[in-house]
Amino acid sequence: MALVSYKNIAFLFFCSLLIRHSLSTLAHSKKLDEKKPCKRFVVYYHDILFNGTNAANATSATVANHTKLGNFNHGMLVVFDDPITKDHHLLSPPVARAQGFYFYDMKSTYNAWFSYTLVFNSTQYKGTINVMGADLMGEETRDLSVVGGTGDFFLARGIVTIRTDVAQGDYYFRLEMDVKLYECY
Ligand SMILES: *[C@@H]1O[C@H](CO)[C@@H](O)[C@H](O)[C@H]1NC(C)=O
Ligand SMILES: *[C@@H]1O[C@H](CO)[C@@H](O)[C@H](O)[C@H]1NC(C)=O
Ligand SMILES: *[C@@H]1O[C@H](CO)[C@@H](O)[C@H](O)[C@H]1NC(C)=O
Ligand SMILES: *[C@@H]1O[C@H](CO)[C@@H](O)[C@H](O)[C@H]1NC(C)=O
Repeated sequence: MALVSYKNIAFLFFCSLLIRHSLSTLAHSKKLDEKKPCKRFVVYYHDILFNGTNAANATSATVANHTKLGNFNHGMLVVFDDPITKDHHLLSPPVARAQGFYFYDMKSTYNAWFSYTLVFNSTQYKGTINVMGADLMGEETRDLSVVGGTGDFFLARGIVTIRTDVAQGDYYFRLEMDVKLYECY
């Protein structure tokens, strides 16, 4: 008799676990609301391309020059370690660095592909956000994917909307980056 009721209790416990599990799965598969990121901030990205004379200021360099396919830098690969600031001033103290690369990939227009890590090491945030995607330079704003993160941004996922804020000659450009995370832990 006693044995049976223990079995019953164990069975009820198992059922309650099952229900709890399916409820949390349900909550997780809920459609994400595009208008409601769990974390959002705007920062600025500054890229100063090494041009042979600005080594003291440069933050990026061409490691493979463009090919002769088309007239839009096709194949040019740039590696960068760029400062990220809270406002648009190049000389403001950086809140993070963007470390990665971009390359131009179209023969008929300027178009790039970005892959980088935002490295945060400040009192506010410690950790990384990994970003990648197509920079369709003809568009006013472009969406890159946040594919992961570490530290304060553990397993982050979201969108970084970039907008060219300034492009000065061929050696300096600034992007506004609107970072929106939809999964925060
Ligand atoms: C190189 O870039 C610097 C700014 O970083 C600019 O002042 C200088 O004129 C550029 N030199 C050439 C040869 O384009
Ligand atoms: C390099 O940066 C310094 C400030 O860090 C600035 O004073 C100087 O004008 C810059 N030089 C060039 C060539 O852009
Ligand atoms: C890439 O090639 C262009 C000429 O097409 C040249 O002006 C430029 O200096 C080259 N850049 C590098 C980093 O070699
Ligand atoms: C982060 O900042 C601290 C304090 O400035 C420094 O000691 C540490 O080396 C930095 N870590 C990285 C990965 O830059």
